[in-house]
Amino acid sequence: MSVRVALIVGSLRNGSYSRAIGMAIKDLAAPELELIPVEIGDLPLYNPDLETETPPPAWARFREAVNGTQAVLFVTPEYNRSIPGALKNALDVGSRPYGHSVWQAKPAAIVSVSPGALAAFGANHHLRQPLVFLNMPVMQQPEAYVGNVADLLDDQGKLTNEGTRKFLKTFTDAFVDWIEKTKG
Ligand code: FNR
Repeated sequence: MSVRVALIVGSLRNGSYSRAIGMAIKDLAAPELELIPVEIGDLPLYNPDLETETPPPAWARFREAVNGTQAVLFVTPEYNRSIPGALKNALDVGSRPYGHSVWQAKPAAIVSVSPGALAAFGANHHLRQPLVFLNMPVMQQPEAYVGNVADLLDDQGKLTNEGTRKFLKTFTDAFVDWIEKTKG
């Protein structure tokens, strides 16, 4: 049976490496992992004053989209050794209204991506902190750190590195098992 998984990319940039890796994962993942890109770039900054009967339409669209999935895959770059603000905002938007978090108990996995050698280790681990509070069981192994990413993609952003492809397949197969073990 296939599982609907929200694919959330932490970069808003046209030509984002993280998005390219996210789309590569979507293509190579086992058929039981149906990855559904959910955009975060149009979400107004979280402000409790806007949390009325009619919240911003982009918040409502985002919450509905994540609610329609059973798990979440985060693919993110690192900004200043942490996660991009846009991704943190998306976590905040999804976490409210209080008691109606779209993240509640959803299995999650993280892929961090960087053109640098440290592979966005800081972002990968900073993201784990709010996910603990949001009660998301986050896959611990295998971890996924995609470093020197520019060397792994062609000019069209297609993944050309066979070793990375094999690793990401192993990672997504493990995520299928993780979802099966931890979903509510
Ligand atoms: C960066 N970059 C970056 N890279 C990194 O490995 N560690 C870091 O802490 C940072 N910090 C950082 C801050 C800001 C504000 C920007 C704009 C960039 C570089 C970053 O990895 C690079 O721009 C990637 O291309 C971003 O990922 P996407 O947009 O290609 O997915």
